[in-house]
Amino acid sequence: MSTIDTEQTTDNTDSGAPIRRLAAWDTDSLCNLAAEFETPLYVIDAQRVRENCARLLDAFPAATIRYAIKAHSGQAVLKVIRDAGIDVECASAGEVKAALAAGFNGNRIQYTAVNPPARDLDAIINWWQENKQLTITVGAADTVERLQERGFDGRLCIRVNPNVGAGHHEKVTTGANAKFGIPYERVSELATQWATEFDLVGIHAHAGSGISGEDLSSHEELVRRMGTLTRTITECAGSLEFVDVGGGFGVPYRANDPPLDIHTVAERTRDALGTVDATLAIEPGRYVVADAGVLLTRVNTIKSARETTVVGVDAGMTTLLRPAMYDAYHEIENISASPTTDSMPVTIAGPICESSDIFAEGRSISAPTRGDIIAIGTAGAYGYEMASTYNARPRPAEVIYDDSTAKVARRRETRDELDVLETSSDEHSVSLSSVVSHSHSSVAPESTMSSSSTGDTPPGGESQ
Ligand code: LLP
Repeated sequence: MSTIDTEQTTDNTDSGAPIRRLAAWDTDSLCNLAAEFETPLYVIDAQRVRENCARLLDAFPAATIRYAIKAHSGQAVLKVIRDAGIDVECASAGEVKAALAAGFNGNRIQYTAVNPPARDLDAIINWWQENKQLTITVGAADTVERLQERGFDGRLCIRVNPNVGAGHHEKVTTGANAKFGIPYERVSELATQWATEFDLVGIHAHAGSGISGEDLSSHEELVRRMGTLTRTITECAGSLEFVDVGGGFGVPYRANDPPLDIHTVAERTRDALGTVDATLAIEPGRYVVADAGVLLTRVNTIKSARETTVVGVDAGMTTLLRPAMYDAYHEIENISASPTTDSMPVTIAGPICESSDIFAEGRSISAPTRGDIIAIGTAGAYGYEMASTYNARPRPAEVIYDDSTAKVARRRETRDELDVLETSSDEHSVSLSSVVSHSHSSVAPESTMSSSSTGDTPPGGESQ
């Protein structure tokens, strides 16, 4: 535990400013945290997560809000969201496990099956037996068959491919991508069939991630199509409980970009949906956690290269992948420099042996010296979550603070932990020829896969 001094409000009902920029963080506190817990370090402000939840609840008072866990699945964050009264959307058995562990009941969990591995379905069905209110969203008729093979007849939601996409980068534009959902025009026929076999509770679609004010017309078009589809399904298959129009609400990453006006988004969403006999549901991830987190990293090398000064820091693409993967922009500041330090344009690079391991080029920051702390803003969503151990680099630590107390939410991984999965024993070895003949002759049907292969221990339960 560590005590920090912040100027942020502690009023739980305050929904705060629409965006917290990097400049609004208390830099002395951040430097203290870096000194106490070392770097690279993710810092999460629990109160800011609460404010973001409060703003969504205020803008969408009649809707069901499901937080997309994939943005940040840490227990400490999930508990704040649970207490705010927001439900969860999970994209894997691992995320459902995290939700159950954080105390979400089955009726607050929606599992979205995206080409689900058998191992995930086996685990989900085991949990469903104990939590029959859990909802499973399917994006393929094939997945429905696999669920039926496992005895599922519960709450089913159909993921629609609306053929409308939006988002901050082509890699996160989902709505028209063939990988996701069942083509719009085939859904009502399947809904009519599945309504007789399952408890058909809803339909769902997601346009993409990082929708800005400019993309709102794509979002509206998606919602319009979902409204029409809900009305058709209500006529041919009966009422639905909800129509889920996905997440994707963007946050501004650049200091001068305006924030989304969430009330306008809510109003335009309701208008586009029209009158439906179903509750509107949304699934924001980034909006809830992005600006509640910063990444702190320390300068370890400064060198003059041919056309730039390269500032080497101890976080890399393995700590925060977004710049390397999506060319994503994050605000960056040298928070240990004195206010009178001149700025200079630099390249900020990590320690990974890859040329894409660069956070920014030509970025103006206060002239750094070795040991300075660099803060990278708006890192609470898809930051720690996408961290890896490439180059045999342990994952960073994460602290969360509430009021003026900070505690470790995820401890730093150690180098000794990197090889714990490796085995040198011959205990599980097979003859290659027996594997080959097995695969040609008697492949076990998926539904009879050994349950021990799920590798999960449900919260409070036995390994299955
Ligand atoms: N619902 C579904 C079905 C989704 O696939 C996603 C995100 C969300 C909700 C939440 O979207 P959000 O509100 O967070 O935009 N790694 C990327 C983002 C990938 C998002 C994938 N799906 C990034 O760092 O920008």
